[in-house]
Amino acid sequence: MENKKNYEKAIEELSLMLMYLTREQDNNEFCKYRELSWKGYDFQMLDRLEQGDLIFQPKNRRGYDKYLYLTEQGRERAQELLAEYGLCDKEINEQFELRNILPEEAEQAAEIEKICFPPNEACSREKILERVEAAPELFLVAVDRKTGKLAGFLNGIATDEYSFRDEFFTDIKLYNPKGNNVMLLGLDVLPEYRGQGLAKEIMFQYLRREQEKGRKMIFLTCLAAKVKMYTKMGYYNNGIAASTWGGEQWYEMRYRLNL
Ligand SMILES: CC(C)(COP(=O)(O)OP(=O)(O)OC[C@H]1O[C@@H](n2cnc3c(N)ncnc32)[C@H](O)[C@@H]1OP(=O)(O)O)[C@@H](O)C(=O)NCCC(=O)NCCS
Repeated sequence: MENKKNYEKAIEELSLMLMYLTREQDNNEFCKYRELSWKGYDFQMLDRLEQGDLIFQPKNRRGYDKYLYLTEQGRERAQELLAEYGLCDKEINEQFELRNILPEEAEQAAEIEKICFPPNEACSREKILERVEAAPELFLVAVDRKTGKLAGFLNGIATDEYSFRDEFFTDIKLYNPKGNNVMLLGLDVLPEYRGQGLAKEIMFQYLRREQEKGRKMIFLTCLAAKVKMYTKMGYYNNGIAASTWGGEQWYEMRYRLNL
């Protein structure tokens, strides 16, 4: 009995885990949090979680909204609790670990880039190695927990510039770690891991991390065939880009993180 958590604590922890497990991604640029959950829980308990900075309850003119957001602290706490209670996360989180690239994974990333892009679009091995060395904190990888190998990644560099130019692909000296914005340089998922939402998850985690760091905007360029994919991920189409990378026509897409 002494080791048992009290009733209030049990409700709090179980509710937080339920909110986390049933969370949905949200692209609301006017809110600083990105994961929402419907709320049908005890109001006093919700208030306590909000006081502890674990959730955020948006309000409208008539009172509280019917959903809430998990804060970064809230999702971390929920993850700890799931481990403590021995419960599984969403399948994609169970299958992949998302984290910064390690120096010894640079060659693997260069190989993946060659598999994912035709020679005129792919970034060279040398440039990938430079990025891993200079900006590993902006090089997010998905590691297959079973094999320990990379399944995909998203990389970029920070800058204070507000539009994309091809030099970001080639000149690592343009990287300004304190830059307001991030220019994304490559989203890759190995063919055998495609079609299960991994690219979406990598992108979403990347956006959340950069939002937490206080970045303002994210930019990328893509071919016409991918505009819809990025629009679904919450990006806005800026139209035809200045880029002539690989001799093709590119679209510039932007995502607003912090106003
Ligand atoms: C594009 C790529 C990253 C997608 O990876 P993935 O893990 O299969 O993508 P997801 O399963 O997360 O799919 C996310 C969404 O994008 C859409 N999508 C996926 N691949 C797409 C493609 N090649 N073209 C257009 N839309 C695509 C999916 O239908 C899905 O939409 P939904 O949310 O409505 O289901 C992967 O196919 C790849 O590495 N391709 C080669 C490199 C490349 O083109 N990178 C993007 C450069 S701009």
